Amino acid sequence: MTRRLEGTVALVTGASSGIGRATALELAREGASVALVGRREDRLSDLAAEISKGGEQALVVPADITTPQAAAEAVERTVEGLGRLDTLVNNAGLMLLGPAPGADLEDWRRMIDINLMGLMYTAHAAVPHLVKAASQEPRRVADIVNIGSLAGRSAFAMSAVYSATKFGVGAFSEALRQELAGRHVRVSVVEPGSVDTELRTHNPAVIQQHIVAALGDIERLQSQDIADTVGYIVTRPRHMAVAELLVRPTEQV
Ligand SMILES: NC(=O)c1ccc[n+]([C@@H]2O[C@H](COP(=O)([O-])OP(=O)(O)OC[C@H]3O[C@@H](n4cnc5c(N)ncnc54)[C@H](OP(=O)(O)O)[C@@H]3O)[C@@H](O)[C@H]2O)c1
Repeated sequence: MTRRLEGTVALVTGASSGIGRATALELAREGASVALVGRREDRLSDLAAEISKGGEQALVVPADITTPQAAAEAVERTVEGLGRLDTLVNNAGLMLLGPAPGADLEDWRRMIDINLMGLMYTAHAAVPHLVKAASQEPRRVADIVNIGSLAGRSAFAMSAVYSATKFGVGAFSEALRQELAGRHVRVSVVEPGSVDTELRTHNPAVIQQHIVAALGDIERLQSQDIADTVGYIVTRPRHMAVAELLVRPTEQV
């Protein structure tokens, strides 16, 4: 089978777990060399070993990308280590839920710092490299895939600031898409419904119980479902851009 990302390089943020981990593996299966960004270096190293076993190159880039300097450094280390940058998957994120009145403002800041600022800083640093890759073989097109959320399409009680960050991801993605379209850098946003990952475990037990109760007894998405979605987006032909995909568990209303 032809591997459609052969000769290209991808950077995946939040590759140490969940959707990011599955996406890094998926892009490597398609032949991409992959830079793995996140704070938990041990997890990234395990993933790099797994990717290497499959015959692809993986670069571990431990970083907290909530500052412009760290995000830029992660991008530069990728280009230095792997030679170029064709695909950026902005996936790292944090979801801390609860009522807005009386909320811990530090929780709000942490979500905005990673879900929005980290994503934008990384995109800012990556754009010059993506524009360059889009002018070159093998694909003559490059991609930014931003992981938004169903909560970036509709706001829900208990998720005011998480939703605000994900609405922001949608707005940023659409404006950037318009700015880069002429240079063949595609910008997409993927908006998952509920996926079975570690995301909700960062909340206190009582909030986790609330999330479980609100969702009901449904079969949730798996990380691989979203990795497949990202894989679909970045392997489209050069003339085709998938701007936005909302992916729900079938039973999630
Ligand atoms: N799970 C869902 O139901 C769902 C639904 C819609 C959207 N999403 C979105 O999907 C994305 C991935 O989440 P997930 O569900 O896969 O959850 P997850 O397993 O908790 O993954 C989150 C990832 O983000 C990384 N991260 C967090 N803060 C970071 C920072 N400051 N610097 C660098 N990396 C950081 C984490 O790595 P380290 O801790 O190692 O840094 C981790 O790899 C998020 O943007 C989330 O909002 C998830």
